[in-house]
Amino acid sequence: MKFFIDTANLDQIREAGELGVLDGVTTNPSLMAKEGITGKNNILKHYVDICNIVDGDVSAEVIGTTFDQMVREGEELADLHDQIVVKVPMIRDGVKALRYFTEKGIRTNCTLVFSPGQALLAAKAGATYVSPFIGRLDDVSSDGLNLISEIREIYDNYDFETEILAASIRHTMHIIECAKLGADVMTGPLSSIEGLLKHPLTDIGLEKFLADYRKGNP
Ligand code: E4P
Repeated sequence: MKFFIDTANLDQIREAGELGVLDGVTTNPSLMAKEGITGKNNILKHYVDICNIVDGDVSAEVIGTTFDQMVREGEELADLHDQIVVKVPMIRDGVKALRYFTEKGIRTNCTLVFSPGQALLAAKAGATYVSPFIGRLDDVSSDGLNLISEIREIYDNYDFETEILAASIRHTMHIIECAKLGADVMTGPLSSIEGLLKHPLTDIGLEKFLADYRKGNP
């Protein structure tokens, strides 16, 4: 399973990178705004800054909602750096843009996916990644993890190469469950990744090992 971090915060990206398990970064317009990154030039520069500190795919989202706008923006984003993956929303013109980018050899991440049918369309259009938003489904009393399982089954039936990128991960158990269901990638906040580290028996065990060592080696 690949680990992506879902943030535009450079310190957090560095911190996750130093852990040695980071495979990429996803961003979205809300995450950029949260970091106070506004204005086209600053946003483009920020994508390059992210690419320069992580060794892996960096999803950069288009803002336009028509085919022409998405193609223009996506080509500009893809030209920024070879690590850029163009993030395209699951809307009618987005599907057309996915097909266009696929034919041009530009890698894509189809975002805002909430149903198996949308995931099937994204794969048919050749998306590199499909991003089902599991946390947002859970927020409205729908089963986000079930969507991962349905997409896995569909993709396996037809050997689609599109990778399932479990997005809108809210906590560590989401990661574990997505791994059990065979999601190819997860993207979540740093806290969800760090949660994988923790177990009280590890801390207690280490404390005892060190105490016993100190007894024998005063
Ligand atoms: C995916 O790429 C999105 O950036 C993200 O996972 C959305 O998560 P949220 O529902 O926590 O905003």
